Amino acid sequence: MGNNAPIGVFDSGLGGLTVVKEMLNLLPGEDIIYFGDTARTPYGSRPPAEIIMFMHEILRFFTVQKVKMAVFACNTMTALGLEEAKRTYSFFTVGVNTGVKAALKVTRSKQIGVIATQATVASGYHGRSIRRIDAGAAIFPQACPKFVPLIEQGKLDGAEVEAAVAEYLVPLKEAGIDSLILGCTHYPFISPIITRVLGTSVSLVDPARETVVDARDLLAKHGQLAVNRQGTVRLCFSADLDRVQRFAGKVLSLALRGAEPNYELVN
Ligand code: SIN
Repeated sequence: MGNNAPIGVFDSGLGGLTVVKEMLNLLPGEDIIYFGDTARTPYGSRPPAEIIMFMHEILRFFTVQKVKMAVFACNTMTALGLEEAKRTYSFFTVGVNTGVKAALKVTRSKQIGVIATQATVASGYHGRSIRRIDAGAAIFPQACPKFVPLIEQGKLDGAEVEAAVAEYLVPLKEAGIDSLILGCTHYPFISPIITRVLGTSVSLVDPARETVVDARDLLAKHGQLAVNRQGTVRLCFSADLDRVQRFAGKVLSLALRGAEPNYELVN
């Protein structure tokens, strides 16, 4: 695969755009194909076998697009499918960084909260990762199944969001956490509300930047970075194209050149 082959980035919907935003800063020469599975969001409350089936459908689409790398901008898919994808596909694969190292840098009490989908929490992914690095640190996982559907509907503030944030996060605050990993790429969209509920004494850790640094390091190591050129972004969604294209254009500060082709599953 040549250096200028595209990078495929995917998520269950809009959350992965928080990763694409970092890519535009750190990997400006890369062509990006983003796929958001808005027809089937959320992933995080689905059975693992179904989530893995979706992963293969999307990665087969990226195979047809001749990507040099797939970035899993979805924590649920990273926790459940990344290892299998590494064994199956010939392009590079990078998952969402756990955020554990960044959290260990900012925590004083070593009491670290993690908010994520039900599937990610059930996978035990963050707990395993922290035990490998610092056995003395404690993880407080909290599944937040209401967040992704609200964010996908474009509800980023207001009473409904505040109530959901309070429901999930007040118990974590009472448990004494001093740092909180946003373990789903959707959650940075509601970080102002999270900070309002938790207060500024709890540091939020958004792993988007570390994820892109991981991708950049891997490409650099293999001499595959696209440099001295201006990259492009192609946005593909499986449903609700007009609305989500507008949302994505705003998030990424991109002027969209009209609707891109919709995505079709490649079997
Ligand atoms: C979801 O679709 O439930 C969220 C995906 C993620 O874990 O980032």
